[in-house]
Amino acid sequence: MRFFSIKQASCVKGEILLLGDKSIACRSIIISAISCGKTAVENFPPSRDCLGTVKTFKKLGIKITQNQDLKTITVFGNGLYGLEKAKGPISVGDSGTTLRLTLGVLAGQDFPVTLIAGKSLSQRPMRRVTVPLRMMGAEICARHIPKTKNLTPNTKFEEYPPITIKGGRLNPIIYRIPVASAQVKSAILLAGLYAKGKTRVIEPVKTRDHTERMLRLFKADIKVKQNTIVIKGRKELVSPGRIFIPGDISSASFFMVLGTILPDSRILIKEVNLNPYRMGIINVLKKMGADIQVLGNSTVGFEPSSDIVIKSSKLKNTIIKKGEIPSLIDELPILMVAACFAKGKSIFEGVSELRVKETDRIRSMSENLKKMGADIRIIKTLKSEKIIIQGGRSLIGATVKSFGDHRTAMSMVVAGLAAQGKTRIDNITCINKSFPNFLSLLKTIIH
Ligand code: S3P
Repeated sequence: MRFFSIKQASCVKGEILLLGDKSIACRSIIISAISCGKTAVENFPPSRDCLGTVKTFKKLGIKITQNQDLKTITVFGNGLYGLEKAKGPISVGDSGTTLRLTLGVLAGQDFPVTLIAGKSLSQRPMRRVTVPLRMMGAEICARHIPKTKNLTPNTKFEEYPPITIKGGRLNPIIYRIPVASAQVKSAILLAGLYAKGKTRVIEPVKTRDHTERMLRLFKADIKVKQNTIVIKGRKELVSPGRIFIPGDISSASFFMVLGTILPDSRILIKEVNLNPYRMGIINVLKKMGADIQVLGNSTVGFEPSSDIVIKSSKLKNTIIKKGEIPSLIDELPILMVAACFAKGKSIFEGVSELRVKETDRIRSMSENLKKMGADIRIIKTLKSEKIIIQGGRSLIGATVKSFGDHRTAMSMVVAGLAAQGKTRIDNITCINKSFPNFLSLLKTIIH
């Protein structure tokens, strides 16, 4: 096994420009593919997950080309009913967004498709999307545990890829989503494009609204009122011709924390997406005392974005409530690192969704940080879990594991750069899932 070694850095200084946001990029391929017209997707990230979405839609008969600048992808949309039956099962890789959103689109197609996932995605729960899509009329067969022949929405079991789906004429539904999840919401909205009438989705807590914004840009009939989204089906989408994908705030979060906890640091991050439902990382870090400045607001088309400046500062403890979790769900691992460097006891409430990400991130992060000397406790409550971190003592370099998870790996790189001594991480190739140039960007700012 190839270990990656890190030693303590003294400071970070400089300017970085990030690749386009992963969530927006995956959606840009899916929605362009089922719209009428050609879409040039600019600042498309060549990460494993986003290339997985491209591959999936090519298999469904969509022409997708890469421009000479290598940063623009052109999608030749074929309309709502222009997808073709794939020749065999489609391997979607390990992207939950690709799999769950594609299921929403396939629910509207009158041919069967089998989607196969990679090792980590094959362990992630799918019933959260199969239940509403079946209610709309899709026929779905998934690997399930425990095995049973009677599939009713109330049967207590879980479903996993591979999944075979055959859609067709869908009915609209009114659906109250049980877990706050942008992927589930988006799958239902995409299926709603094929339903006769209005599909209504109600979220328990607002989650990232990239799908709603992009569907509006493509002239869908969509209305949002507080936590309810209503979409009217059977209306063709129209391509806007071009989309620019702003920088990924989840990728930026590693630099926000690093620039905060290392002394004498200053980083400028250019054009970061500031979707209002993904601002948790900035809000929480600021509450903890971080010096983060958002320089104006340059909304590019349909998503807000801005340059951000981060300067080092002393952090204090915080309490993150369950309702805030969706706005920082992917940033919890790096916030756990920040809490180790904050004075006092930090509490992260309602974090059980972390158990079903690329790996069990409660386990991966607490095992790793404990090896580095952190004081972390996990408390299970009746319905959820909370993480308690007593911060303020230095971390000490150790040998830790990525658990094959990109965000655990990058969080541990940041922890290692701020810890005393040497840190070794077992395998960090998983970083390519979302942030293939993470290490090269990091090298340009480390002093
Ligand atoms: C995503 C939504 C979140 C997030 C994931 C990307 C999306 O997942 O964790 O990395 O693109 O909609 P959930 O919808 O499962 O919370």
